[in-house]
Amino acid sequence: MKKKVVLAYSGGLDTSCAVRWIIDKYDAEVICFCAFIGEVPDPAPIRKRALAAGASKIYIEDMKEVFAKEYILPSLWAHARYEGKYLMATTLGRPLIAKRLVEIAEKEKAEYVAHGCTGKGNDQVRIEVGVTSLNPKLKIIAPLKEWEFRTREEEIEYAHDHNIPIAVTKKSIYSLDKNIWGIAIEAGILEDPWTAPPQDAYVMTRNLDNVPDKSREVTVDFVKGIPVALNKKKMALVPLIETLNQWAGDYGIGRLDMVENRLVGIKSREVYEAPAATVLMSGHEELTNLIFDREYLHFQRILSDKYADLAYFGLWFTPLKEALDAFFGKHQHLVTGEVKFRFEKGNATVIGRKSPHSSYSEALAT
Ligand code: ARG
Repeated sequence: MKKKVVLAYSGGLDTSCAVRWIIDKYDAEVICFCAFIGEVPDPAPIRKRALAAGASKIYIEDMKEVFAKEYILPSLWAHARYEGKYLMATTLGRPLIAKRLVEIAEKEKAEYVAHGCTGKGNDQVRIEVGVTSLNPKLKIIAPLKEWEFRTREEEIEYAHDHNIPIAVTKKSIYSLDKNIWGIAIEAGILEDPWTAPPQDAYVMTRNLDNVPDKSREVTVDFVKGIPVALNKKKMALVPLIETLNQWAGDYGIGRLDMVENRLVGIKSREVYEAPAATVLMSGHEELTNLIFDREYLHFQRILSDKYADLAYFGLWFTPLKEALDAFFGKHQHLVTGEVKFRFEKGNATVIGRKSPHSSYSEALAT
């Protein structure tokens, strides 16, 4: 019997070449899996490309809701920011992909999974550690760490030689990874940590010279820790996040430029945008602060840092991370209330908060 490999497929040049390369190199059957956790593009050309590259089958799934409920929400409750800043949009997507890869491999009786991450980043570790945590029997193939191509041109030539249709879209000069929780912008001139990001590097937020002059008030309602309404309009979690990305992005809210310590031991300069995430995190923290006592608040900060480290290092499916979820989940039924923001020129300033479970006493404060 032929070996079976389930490949995390993006539809891009790397993973399209990877399909063919695995088939030839490993004499295997390749099944692709493509998850949408940001924009949901037309699946037809993606399917066509995967099959043209030689895949026997492709799973294409809109996983935004799972992403929001099982990955974004727990990290929102944990107030998780890597190195105190990064809201981890990319980070949180990787265990989701790892988990679904494992499920599909088990269903298809495949003994291999594969991914298109390079050998320098965090993502390879997150996917590999995620897969191994969930099913240690699965073997992992990482074509980009193994193959002989050195340049993009060589890959394009390989694609041509093997009749793999590649997307004609112009490749960004940056390396981008985007989903509903934010975007990471890396590489190119940004690798010099002294070079300011050019205005056109940004994707989700407007430049400050292009935001409305007039500020705008926005309220966010939380019920039991879950954001449920914007300006009193009830919304499901995914559309709420998407709407807030638009509203906050219009005001240039949620930009971050940092040098971060990768788990592989190198420092990298990262430019991030996370409009909705920035507002929701600040809102959830504000309510938490209004409701709980000093001891709880001071102690949970320690765990927030630990939570972010675990997520960032790919230790999502681990006993400690699960135990921390239990800790942060324990009192979410009290996190109900409303936070009022003023959006103005790059900032979402908290200007009011209220909750039926508030511990604040005006009488004592006066
Ligand atoms: N450094 C960030 C992280 O580790 C962003 C990584 C972006 N990944 C990418 N494939 N472009 O979460």
